[in-house]
Amino acid sequence: AVRNFSNSAVMANAIKNVTVIGSGLMGGGIAQVAAQTGHNVVMVDVDDGVLSKAHERISTSMKRVAKKKFGDSQEEANKFVSDSLSRLTTSTDSTASVKNADLVVEAIVENIDIKQKLFKQLDEAAPEHTIFASNTSSLSIQKIAQNAKRKDRFGGLHFFNPVPVMKLLEVIRIPETSQATIDSMLAWGKAMGKVTVQCKDTPGFIVNRLLVPYYGEAYRMYERGDATTRDIDTAMKLGTGYPMGPFELSDYTGLDTNLFVIEGWAKEYPDEPLFKVSESLRKLVSEGKLGVKTGEGFYKYNK
Ligand code: NAI
Repeated sequence: AVRNFSNSAVMANAIKNVTVIGSGLMGGGIAQVAAQTGHNVVMVDVDDGVLSKAHERISTSMKRVAKKKFGDSQEEANKFVSDSLSRLTTSTDSTASVKNADLVVEAIVENIDIKQKLFKQLDEAAPEHTIFASNTSSLSIQKIAQNAKRKDRFGGLHFFNPVPVMKLLEVIRIPETSQATIDSMLAWGKAMGKVTVQCKDTPGFIVNRLLVPYYGEAYRMYERGDATTRDIDTAMKLGTGYPMGPFELSDYTGLDTNLFVIEGWAKEYPDEPLFKVSESLRKLVSEGKLGVKTGEGFYKYNK
C-alpha cells in the first residue's frame, strides 16, 4: 500500500496496545472500555486476588453493555463479550507489562510518592515511543512526571466514574507534552468512544476545579442554616438541570474522597479561599459517614 508521510506519522502514533496500572474502580473501567473498543489490554495490580475480582467485575459489566448493544441477538452479545475479554490479560509485574505498550494509563492509589516511583520504574522499562498518562483527579501531572525522562510523551487522561457510562475524557498537557502526544491521546480518546476536552495541568483540570468550590459553597450554605441539604439539592437539580444536587453527588462520590482532595489543595494553596475545608465534611468523615458506600453521609441510605 502507498503511504504518504502524514499517514505513516499517524500510523506510527496509533495506540493499539494499552497497559492499565491499577484495576480498581477506575482502572477496571478503563481496561474494560479499551478492550471493548479493540485494544489489546494488560491490566496490572498488586496481586492475583485483586486482579481476579477486577476481571469478574469487568466481565459482568461487559455483559450488561453487550445486552444494551445487541439486545435482540444473544449470539452477537456473546461474541462481543468473548472477543473483548480475549483482548484483556492481567499481570502483577508492572515493568514487564509495559514492554509492548503504546500507552500506559496509571490509575493506582492517589499518592504522589507512589505514583512518582511507579513512573520512574516504567520509564526505564517501556519502549521509546510509549506514552505515559495518569488518571489522577487531584494531583499535578507535572509532579507525577517528575522522575520520568519522557516528559514530551507524558500527559493526563482523566476519566469519570463509571468509565463505561460517562462520556467525558479530560486530556491534560504539561508544558513539555508534545503536540504528537496530545494528538495520539485525543485520537485514542475518540477510539474509546469518549468526547475529549483539553486542559492545562491546573488543580482539578476543568470539572473538579469547578465542582470542588461548588461543593464547598453548598456545604457552607448548609452549615450556616441558610437552607436544608434537600432543598439545596432540589434547587440545583430543577434550577440548572444537573442530574444530582451537590449533597447527593458528594455522597455518591464518597465524602472521604472529597475531603482528601480539598485537604490536599488547601495545604498546597493556602491563600485560595475557594479551597477551604468545610467543617460538616470533616465531621461526617471522622464519624465514618462516608456516603452511599457506608449507608450514611449527608443522607441516610438503606444498605
Ligand atoms: P481504587 O482504590 O478503586 O483502585 C486503585 C487500585 O490500584 C487498587 O486495586 C490497588 O490495589 C491498585 N494499586 C495501588 N498501588 C499500586 C501499584 N503500585 N501498582 C499496581 N497497582 C496498584 O481507586 P480508584 O478510585 O480507581 O482511583 C484510582 C485513580 O483514579 C486515583 O488516582 C484517583 O484519583 C483517580 N480517579 C478516581 C475517580 C473516582 O471517581 N474514584 C475519578 C477519576 C479519577
